[in-house]
Amino acid sequence: MSNESSREVIQRYLEDAIAAERNFETQLKTFSKEGEQTPVQNLFAEHAIETKHQHERLAARLHALGGSPSTVKSFFAHIFNFAPKVAQLGHDPSEKNSQDLIIAFAIENSEIAMYEELAIVAGFAGDTETERLARTIQEEERAAAKKVWNLIDASCRQSFMRVTTNHANMA
Ligand SMILES: [Fe+2]
Repeated sequence: MSNESSREVIQRYLEDAIAAERNFETQLKTFSKEGEQTPVQNLFAEHAIETKHQHERLAARLHALGGSPSTVKSFFAHIFNFAPKVAQLGHDPSEKNSQDLIIAFAIENSEIAMYEELAIVAGFAGDTETERLARTIQEEERAAAKKVWNLIDASCRQSFMRVTTNHANMA
């Protein structure tokens, strides 16, 4: 049985969150260049910047606790990483933006849960600073998830029109 100090556990959770956010930042930058729907691309580009700011603040907190970000891919980074390749299978290229929105919505909500864990553990350990940071970033993820959700309607209608128009042209 492992026996870590509460500080070590919080450091490890911060490392996990940093790796997940770095991974997601890369994914968001890729999403911002995909497809043809400008509002979707712009949202991803904006959230990539916000995500960079998130992992920077997490890294600053980790340093303050005497740790440093690990180069090893975390548990969450692995979970958030596998989805895109799977979801792309069998879809028309014009559906790319809708697919990216669905993936991003899943990731944002996973992050909300990830920060719930960090906030609870930090609060339990009496580390109010880490708890406050986790709650602040969690609110940013909630706002981002809402923006992503609000774009799904227009995006999938547009994708559907495009796919069915291509079909009509070919028939
Ligand atoms: Fe994030």
